[in-house]
Amino acid sequence: MPGSGQPPLVVVSNRGPLAFRHDASGNVVPTRAGGGLVACLAPAVEHRDVTWITSAVTELDRDATKGGPIDIDGMRIHHLAIEPESYRQYYDVIANGTLWFLHHNLFDLARRPRIDHHWWNAWHTYCDVNESFAALVAQEAPKGAIVLVHDYHLGLIGSTLREIRPDLRTVYFHHTPFTGRNTISTLPMPAIQRLIEGMNGFDACGFHAQAWADNFALCSADATGRVPATFISAAAPDINELRVVAQAPETEEALEHLESVARGRKLIVRVDRMELSKNLLRGFLAFDDLLRRYPRWRENVTFVANLYPSREGLVDYLAYRNEVEGLIDQINESWATPDWQPIVVSVQDDFPRSVAALRRYDVLLVNPIRDGLNLVAKEGAILNERDGAVVLSREAGAWFELGDWAIGINPFDIMATSDALLHALEMSDEEKQSRAAGIRAAAESRVPNDWLDDQIRAVWNP
Ligand code: G6P
Repeated sequence: MPGSGQPPLVVVSNRGPLAFRHDASGNVVPTRAGGGLVACLAPAVEHRDVTWITSAVTELDRDATKGGPIDIDGMRIHHLAIEPESYRQYYDVIANGTLWFLHHNLFDLARRPRIDHHWWNAWHTYCDVNESFAALVAQEAPKGAIVLVHDYHLGLIGSTLREIRPDLRTVYFHHTPFTGRNTISTLPMPAIQRLIEGMNGFDACGFHAQAWADNFALCSADATGRVPATFISAAAPDINELRVVAQAPETEEALEHLESVARGRKLIVRVDRMELSKNLLRGFLAFDDLLRRYPRWRENVTFVANLYPSREGLVDYLAYRNEVEGLIDQINESWATPDWQPIVVSVQDDFPRSVAALRRYDVLLVNPIRDGLNLVAKEGAILNERDGAVVLSREAGAWFELGDWAIGINPFDIMATSDALLHALEMSDEEKQSRAAGIRAAAESRVPNDWLDDQIRAVWNP
């Protein structure tokens, strides 16, 4: 598609391709930002003529990008500097504290959400930040460009762009699930209207799975009487990049360390952000149940949990982390023997360590309460070297692609999850091989470029 007269591309997302850090000598240097969104998008847009508009997320990002846009590999990156208190209201209170909870069904309704004057202030700031993004896009986008806006942080800008830059072809891609028509009414009607009208302002809205597009269509029909144009296109991991990391010396080192932890035992692995939607508590409770009901597995399997710190500005996340760590300690105290620690957990940003665990698992547990897609399930299927089994929540978008070969679970059912872990641990070699071959082929069937091309095709058909 590139080079075929395609209009220029503008990508817009809250978190962009670069994160600035101090190197060993104290200099500020750009590094690749973490997170699934960038991991899929960056390889697809590399080597295309692209403008990327994003937030300066940290103090360091704000400082380092004061001098204007940064040109890297043919990409021109504009960082929008948002004043820290406004950023907190837009990102912590609305994007993460409200919309993330809404779309993942995470509200503890006896307590949250609280639609009070603090919330309304934050909502107005969220709208203002969306307007600032729209203004920067309007200023920077070449005539007739295709503008790809990513995720719930920036869903409002469709209607503004339609008004001020009608020449643009605009696509919105929603990475999370979309909430149902009953749950959306938790929010006040003016906010619902603004969210839906913002999204309806785009020429097309994309989702990883049909279920989320259907929810959006229903909510939109309820709020506006209109059913907008949607398309389904699941993101895909960058297989080449995964293979490079899989062979890197740091990964080999991490694998050696993992073998010294396993000492010949089977490994159940999970790789997740420290995040409520990932359903960490029920995952560990299922392991506890497995050890209780099936004593033959005590001392014969270790649960390795590689977790990433996430959104530490939110009290709910900090409280959740405490609860998860407390539960792990409790389970370890119940079952540990002098030679065996049942759960080995680490919470740090370390991709090679995760890749090593994905190469080595016997069972990969992916049990989110709800998930737009879940890239880890696909990465695991691609990287694993032991025909390991994948226990997968039917509430993850990836289920619709991988479900024929994974062991499906209802993420709320702890005993069914522990039975699924048992099945995965005890299945015959034949079943393991056939499931692993199937899931690998499904996970490898798409690459990041396919996903990007689907987004472009939604508004441009030469
Ligand atoms: C996950 C979600 C994306 C979301 C991203 C934001 O990767 O799947 O939908 O855009 O988190 O993460 P952040 O760390 O920027 O809050």
